[in-house]
Amino acid sequence: MSSELRAFFKALITNPKEVSAIFPASKFLARAVIEEADIGSESKILELGPGSGAITKILLPEITQKKNYWGVDINSKMINFLQNKFPGFQFGVGSAAHLKNIIGDQKFDSVISSLPWSVIDETTQRQILDSLFDMMATKSSLVTYVYFQAVNFKKTKHFLELARSRFAKVEKKKLVVLNLPPAFVFKFDR
Ligand SMILES: C[S@@+](CC[C@H](N)C(=O)[O-])C[C@H]1O[C@@H](n2cnc3c(N)ncnc32)[C@H](O)[C@@H]1O
Repeated sequence: MSSELRAFFKALITNPKEVSAIFPASKFLARAVIEEADIGSESKILELGPGSGAITKILLPEITQKKNYWGVDINSKMINFLQNKFPGFQFGVGSAAHLKNIIGDQKFDSVISSLPWSVIDETTQRQILDSLFDMMATKSSLVTYVYFQAVNFKKTKHFLELARSRFAKVEKKKLVVLNLPPAFVFKFDR
């Protein structure tokens, strides 16, 4: 088993609710998310919930300057793993509900999120979106995904409603079937 899968399953066993996935994102899902994020050579990128780095490992080679990337995850073991695997890139431990405390005052052009919206409680969803909005440049976007079976869960619906009330444009993009489980990609423009 690869070190990435080991890190993922360890986190899943110890923190099943926070991870809320049965498997890391496939390369197909990772590519679909990155494609939607429309990253330019100077873009500043924030990744929320990078986990064991399934998206990160495909994203980072596209980033020309290490200082233009920040990854934030609530799981310190995952962050240690990523810091060792991707030296020089910036990673922080903590909840996405308190981004300013973790990374200070910053503005990002693109946010990629693997946060499990379908299990995050409604108050925390609001705090995360508030905390995130402060960090997003005027013309920026958030790209995220939701497993197909969770799209109609109460908490997912709440998250989508919150996002609709805040973002100028909300789009449900493609369904990536080559992922376990298949996932819908969403894009929110500020
Ligand atoms: C679906 S898993 C990550 C998947 C990752 N893209 C992969 O495929 O390996 C969700 C991640 O979100 C993190 N997470 C959950 N709630 C969080 C929060 N409130 N703030 C920051 N990270 C959080 C978990 O620790 C976990 O690493």
